[in-house]
Amino acid sequence: MRVFVAGATGAIGKQLVPRLVAAGHEAHGMTRSESKQAMIRELGAVPVVADALDHAQVAEAVGRARPDVIVHQLTAIGSLDPRHFDRDFALTNRLRTEGTDHLLSAGQAVGVRRFVAQSYGAWWYVRTGGPVKSEEDPLDPTPAREMRESWDAIRHLETAVLGADWTEGIVLRYGAFYGPGTSLAPGAEQVELVRRRKFPLVGDGGGVWSFIHVADAAEATLAALERGSRGIYNVVDDDPAPVAEWLPALAQEVGAKKPMRVPRFIGRLFAGEVGVVMMTDARGASNAKAKRELGWAPRHASWRQGFLAA
Ligand SMILES: NC(=O)c1ccc[n+]([C@@H]2O[C@H](COP(=O)([O-])OP(=O)(O)OC[C@H]3O[C@@H](n4cnc5c(N)ncnc54)[C@H](OP(=O)(O)O)[C@@H]3O)[C@@H](O)[C@H]2O)c1
Repeated sequence: MRVFVAGATGAIGKQLVPRLVAAGHEAHGMTRSESKQAMIRELGAVPVVADALDHAQVAEAVGRARPDVIVHQLTAIGSLDPRHFDRDFALTNRLRTEGTDHLLSAGQAVGVRRFVAQSYGAWWYVRTGGPVKSEEDPLDPTPAREMRESWDAIRHLETAVLGADWTEGIVLRYGAFYGPGTSLAPGAEQVELVRRRKFPLVGDGGGVWSFIHVADAAEATLAALERGSRGIYNVVDDDPAPVAEWLPALAQEVGAKKPMRVPRFIGRLFAGEVGVVMMTDARGASNAKAKRELGWAPRHASWRQGFLAA
């Protein structure tokens, strides 16, 4: 198939494009910058320069590539202060709203067979009931105030993709990424915060997180674009775990002292309500559907095998 990857130079894109090529697909990789075309060629794709927020540029780029499938992996997260979650996600939110709409309309014009988009499955689920949620479970109806715009943007992306009845619209709710090119890699932002004891354990650390190694996320994306059906798939590892388990394990792995423990009211001061919810109340996700329907299983079955794994 001819596959158009929006976000070909990102953490997932760099893992996905070589896998597409190895599987015999023709990949077209989109970037904003002329200078990243060489990188895209090295990954094995045809480079396409376009700004995802410019409707005409996206329509032209997709129109020229005439893909069978579009994969939407556009984000612009950078470093994140959870007290200002929506501020730090503002551009990502535009990529999830306007960017999604532009790609969908361009895809409809050329009649793509499948449209696969990146969503998030690590903290958005309803915070009542059991610790691990399936795709059938509702999303959090009361997200913390500082992340409501980001929540709306995710909802927009999911609703638009699943509602596109002219194609097979697939939403991948990835767990928190770790591995090369992510913020949980040797020397990267979150690892350094843990190493410097600036990532404390808030309250009982009972918030449950689901992780996924980026290579496994790319494998699942390949499986979804080859044989997925319209709907949502959680793309997470086999081992959702409370912060009280994974954070000390990560600290140990990077040779840091045990994380500091702080009560919720202190946690709220430096990480806001969003940080407190993530650390104490978030729910994890189950990968049963992706395993069953996509014939996929993560090679890094658990983050316990090592967050810093290559
Ligand atoms: N599930 C998760 O845990 C999750 C999800 C997403 C990101 N992250 C993490 O967040 C950190 C930051 O990642 P990031 O958001 O910078 O993403 P990234 O993974 O570095 O990639 C973002 C991609 O979007 C493209 N892009 C952004 N704006 C664009 C625009 N206007 N037009 C065209 N393409 C555009 C970029 O292309 P060009 O720059 O080449 O134009 C790039 O290919 C990383 O550590 C990543 O692992 C985690």
